[in-house]
Amino acid sequence: MQIISSSTEITAISQKACSAQQRIGFVPTMGALHAGHISLVRAARAQSDIVMVSIFVNPLQFGPKEDFSKYPRALERDCALLAAEKVDYVFTPSVEEIYPQGASTWVTVEGITDRLDGRSRPDHFRGVSTVVAKLFHIVQPDLAFFGQKDAAQAAIIQKMVRDLNFDVRIVVCPIVREPDGLAMSSRNAYLDATQRKQATVLYRALMRVQTLADQGERDSGKLLAEGKQVIAEEPAVRLDYFEIVDRNTLEPVAETSGGALVAVAAYVGETRLIDNIVLPDPE
Ligand code: PAF
Repeated sequence: MQIISSSTEITAISQKACSAQQRIGFVPTMGALHAGHISLVRAARAQSDIVMVSIFVNPLQFGPKEDFSKYPRALERDCALLAAEKVDYVFTPSVEEIYPQGASTWVTVEGITDRLDGRSRPDHFRGVSTVVAKLFHIVQPDLAFFGQKDAAQAAIIQKMVRDLNFDVRIVVCPIVREPDGLAMSSRNAYLDATQRKQATVLYRALMRVQTLADQGERDSGKLLAEGKQVIAEEPAVRLDYFEIVDRNTLEPVAETSGGALVAVAAYVGETRLIDNIVLPDPE
């Protein structure tokens, strides 16, 4: 496995692979890898000839009062995990490499980016779409793998790829959970033992919605009221949003036909966690 921090070097490797008809699978990450990331790497390994993973904590997607400076960084451990997964290249650019002095161009996917997390984290998604667009240009992958946990991010990247004719296929992989249901996240590392238990309320609330939907309830208002009630049973957890939306447009839906996305975000202490399920299509 080679660790490369230069954009021109990684682009040259991609172009050589492309000339040799090799398929590049790309997993963009911010490091602090967990089983969720590893599932993306394994999906990439299974579907590609060459696997590239980027590790870059992107300052543009953090708000001024957010956790950019304390975001967990564990490059040595991450590289050991990736080597064990037989990743071919790890791209570890510096901030200056990605955003050279004077860079002032943004990629904004309009409309959709101010829904769900975009509402409480203004500018977050334009930071994500900008860095992902740049990484796609640098890495030139055939396939790129994202986690369903960041469902809004996945919808926005898919839209950006369509809108801007990126020649890459986006593969969205299922959420990986702890045995008690908590969705894997690098931010789980911030939770103390009490908060770690409290955090499971997100999954319990989603399961309540799932059960009612399985019993035939289609009214989003009723489903959300039940889900919110479960969250309220854990007073230390502060709800940010609980919504049922179309999974492509992120627009709220009143009736849950057609595989709607049930998405929740909440603060456990200072830590903001997100989770979601996709309701089965009644057809
Ligand atoms: O999902 C993430 O870890 C980040 O948002 C991503 C896609 C690597 C962009 O910085």
